[in-house]
Amino acid sequence: MRPMEFRLYSWLIKRSQEARFNLASSGLTEPDLPKMGIDTSYEHFASIHVNHEQMMKEPIAELYGVDTENIVLTSGASEAIFITFAAFGGGKTALVPLPNYEPIFVVPRSLGMRVGHSLGAPPRPDLMYALTDPNNPTGLCLDGDEEEMLIEAAGKGATVFVNETYKEFTFQRRPRSLFQKDENLIVCSSMTKFFGLGWLRIGWLIADRKKAGKMTQVMRLLSGHNSEYSLYIARQVLAKRGEFVKRARETYVDNLALVKQFAKMADGVRVKLPDAAPFCLVQYKGRESSIRLASELLRRKGVLVSPGDYFGAPRSFRMCFTLDGPLLARGLGQVSDFMAK
Ligand SMILES: Cc1ncc(COP(=O)(O)O)c(C=O)c1O
Repeated sequence: MRPMEFRLYSWLIKRSQEARFNLASSGLTEPDLPKMGIDTSYEHFASIHVNHEQMMKEPIAELYGVDTENIVLTSGASEAIFITFAAFGGGKTALVPLPNYEPIFVVPRSLGMRVGHSLGAPPRPDLMYALTDPNNPTGLCLDGDEEEMLIEAAGKGATVFVNETYKEFTFQRRPRSLFQKDENLIVCSSMTKFFGLGWLRIGWLIADRKKAGKMTQVMRLLSGHNSEYSLYIARQVLAKRGEFVKRARETYVDNLALVKQFAKMADGVRVKLPDAAPFCLVQYKGRESSIRLASELLRRKGVLVSPGDYFGAPRSFRMCFTLDGPLLARGLGQVSDFMAK
């Protein structure tokens, strides 16, 4: 393996302390768990002796309408991405449409796979399609034809991996997944974004039993298993999912309204609103590199955004709207000011 740098991560981690307005964080803020009725007592956790892994798989299986054998628990969607390529990528070419979340094309490259960005070639067993739905950084969802194309590719023996980390922002009564339409696919999700629980590092993969078994073996060689304390908390959160959906909806609806207002008023930019994600891609005129522009935006206005170049989207930046409303409104005002000059 020749690990390549996750450039967006390096770029953001160096700068997040400087930001007065963090419009780069794609996960909702951490909820006040005790206020939401979640028991966070470590002593209580330590006094009960149960199989936390199995107890976490059960509510996930029920929510998605699958069996627990279809589920592999992972350390966030980050580990899910790595496991999927490690388990199924050997000797294959990864097809990752751009723009996309950097690890989805950097992990396969790091593992020695070839990576292409066009999905136009006829599906073959040596191809591995990998993408995000909703897309990171645009927040747009696959349309029916694109879903059909992926299902057909999987039917012809290609490996198809759909990262559904933001899918809960479609606000369905139960989580939707492309796996529910075709069990040949591999999908993943995470509690980092919609539930605001990034510190817990809880994610999962869903696949047919055979693929899930193989990915479990990779996971046992990698992290071994999740933090059981995290699982203890995450399981309680899923049991109260309705309240977390309500919290997410309130933030999302209010913040999206602010972004719509920004999109209408801001000069010199084109904002494509998302279908379902707490961010959007902002395109600007001119040839300045997005890394330079984002650095200047931070230096002059204290606003942190994610340069589009790291997603394969030059002359744009990803702007997240996960901050509390008043702070977000001020941050958007600073972006407007900056772009107007
Ligand atoms: C599409 C996508 N996958 C995975 C991750 C990583 O998530 P996690 O914290 O669950 O590892 C992110 C975070 O930005 C993401 O946007």
